[in-house]
This record gives sequence, C-alpha cells and structure tokens, in this order.
Amino acid sequence: MRRIRVARTAENHGVNADAIVQVRDLTVDFDTVEGRIRAVDGISFDVLPRRTLGVVGESGCGKSVTAQAIMRIEDERTCRLGGSIVLRRDEDTLDLLGLARDSAQMRELRGGDIGFIFQEPMTSFSPVHTIGNQIIEAVRLHFNLGKPEAAQRAIEQLRDVGMPNPEHIMSQYAWELSGGLRQRAMIAMALVCGPRLLIADEPTTALDVTTQAQVLTLLAELQDRHDMAMMLITHDLGVVAAAADDVAIMYLGFIVERGPAASIFRDSMHPYTQLLLESLPSLTRRRRGALKAIGGTVPRAGNRPAGCPFHTRCPSAIWGVCDRILPGPTQVAEHHVVNCHLHDPQ
Ligand SMILES: Nc1ncnc2c1ncn2[C@@H]1O[C@H](COP(=O)(O)OP(=O)(O)OP(=O)(O)O)[C@@H](O)[C@H]1O
Ligand code: SF4
Ligand SMILES: [Mg+2]
Repeated sequence: MRRIRVARTAENHGVNADAIVQVRDLTVDFDTVEGRIRAVDGISFDVLPRRTLGVVGESGCGKSVTAQAIMRIEDERTCRLGGSIVLRRDEDTLDLLGLARDSAQMRELRGGDIGFIFQEPMTSFSPVHTIGNQIIEAVRLHFNLGKPEAAQRAIEQLRDVGMPNPEHIMSQYAWELSGGLRQRAMIAMALVCGPRLLIADEPTTALDVTTQAQVLTLLAELQDRHDMAMMLITHDLGVVAAAADDVAIMYLGFIVERGPAASIFRDSMHPYTQLLLESLPSLTRRRRGALKAIGGTVPRAGNRPAGCPFHTRCPSAIWGVCDRILPGPTQVAEHHVVNCHLHDPQ
C-alpha cells in the first residue's frame, strides 16, 4: 500500500470544494482553575452535502465541544476558539469564528442553516412552555410569519418526524412525553427552519435499544427527504456503522483516523479504532473474536501525555518514539488518513 505523509495544516480532503462545513486546525481551549487546558487540538475535517459524518470517541475526547464550536454556543467566559470553521452558503463562504457569538448573523445561521439535537432533549426544551409554543418561536425567529402560519408549519414538521397526533402534541410540555416522543419533538424543532446541516450530539444514547433504532432510521429518512448533511456524534461505533458515510475517530482532542466508513470498517489502521471495533459486540460476534474492553481510561484534557495521546493505552506503542513524538497524518487509502507512527511512510 502506498503511504503519503500529508501536511497537518493543509490536509488532502479530496472532493471538498462543495463541503457545507470545512473545519481547519480547530482548537478549543478552556480557562480553568488549573490553568488553560486544550480540549481540541488542531482538528480538520469536512462535512459534505447529503452525507453523514460520524464522529466517534470515548467520553471526554472533545466531540461535544467541537459541535458547540460549530454552533458557536461555547461558553464565552471560559472558552477560546482557534483555527477556522467555514460554512458554505450558496456561492458565499463565511468563517464562523470571525463572527461574534451573539451577532444577528450567527443567530440566523444557528437553527436556520445548522440544526442541533442535544443528547438530552430536556436541556433544550423549557419545562414551562408547550412544545408548540417553542417550535413556533423557533420558526418566527427565522421567518417573517404570523403565529397561525408558524403554528401550521410546526404541526407539519411534527407530522414530518412521524409524531402521532401533532395537534395534540403542540399543547403538551416536554416532560409529559416519553423519551422517544421527546426526541422526535427535538428533531422537529431542529429541522423546522430547513437547515442544510444537522448536528446530532448523541441523539440516541438516552433511549432504549428499540427506540434508538427507530430514531436512527427516522434521521436517515429525514436526511434523504430534505437533502441534508449530518454530523452524528456518538461514543458507539455500532451506531456509526449503521448510519455514517464518513467517519472521524477522536481521541483526547485529536482526530486520530478519518475516512470513508467503508474504508475505516474494512481496513482500520489506528490501534484505537481497532480496539473500538473489537469492543463492539455485534461486529465482534460476526468476526467470531472475543469481546474486548479497552484498558485504562482517557486521561483528562489538562493532563495529556507527551507524544501520541494514545500511547498510555496502546498495545502497539513503540517506546522512545510514541511517548515522545506526536504522529502526523498519513494517507493510507483514498481520503483515508491515520495519525500513528506504525503507518509513517519512512
Ligand atoms: N466548560 C468547560 N470547562 C472546562 N473543560 C471543559 C468544559 N467543557 C468541556 N471541557 C473538557 O473538554 C474535554 C472534551 O469534552 P467534551 O464534552 O467535548 O467530550 P465528549 O467527547 O463530548 O464526551 P462525552 O462522550 O462524555 O459527551 C473534556 O476533557 C472536558 O472535561
Ligand atoms: S503512534 Fe504509537 S502509541 Fe500512538 S497509536 Fe500509533 S503505535 Fe500506538
Ligand atoms: Mg459529549
């Protein structure tokens, strides 16, 4: 296999001229009582039209803060963003990091161009307002519509996400709904303004297995129907195996491997990705191997080891190299890039 070292700051993402979002060298720092910590360290990726990018990694790897940076809902008092996040809008491009977090333009983009689903819908629905009023408010924030027209649009959107009896749901409160229906209402709210990109942060983690499958099927149908791109964040590689076209594996603030889902699942190259795959019950059964857990835990972002961030848990670590030198990106197949010394070209 021909391996090519690719420059860290100008990675070859292939067909990216029409990417909806291009993230380049994104850094996310937090000012904490222990000093400044780096939660995301120079990651680059594209979200392509009508495709789903699965972002996978264990807890604390920086998945949510990356999503929050794209939505610009970071905590202004403690969070500092670096790099660029370029959103394509028709013929225009906009660097979202160049906009003020609470500017009129950013408020228009948030919810308008980019929809967001949180892991726990109760955090995004107010308990004191009905579902209907909250979706109507979201519509009227982006469109110049009267209340009856906005209500009609909200009902249509609830119907579009398969909500039984949408008129009745309009008058209910989030806490009156089951987990599955609440998640559908959240999806309706995220989609009601017709975003071109939907960011779903652990959209099924809080749900039981049957409801999880229903919500994932619904998201795939909606994506198809509305020609949307999706960034699907999860700690579960099984969810990504079923739903993603492209995959980015995150570990401790880095993307350690990324590429088309078929290439990643067939020929994973990074030891972390391989261990995540081995810890997947369904895929492991298919391979007739033993189910493995990844030893150790993700270090805290403020306590990141030198060299490769994964070396403290990696069964293939090369001592003297991996504990000292941060591996750069190597292209191992078309659009498939891995950051690991085992795959260095020399
Ligand atoms: N407001 C904050 N202040 C300080 N550190 C933070 C803050 N928010 C997140 N972090 C740190 O940034 C790192 C990445 O957090 P993030 O929430 O993105 O992880 P995640 O991959 O989404 O994990 P999970 O799967 O648990 O949701 C963690 O080390 C976390 O402690
Ligand atoms: S660079 Fe070294 S420690 Fe890191 S994943 Fe590769 S082999 Fe393991
Ligand atoms: Mg998270």
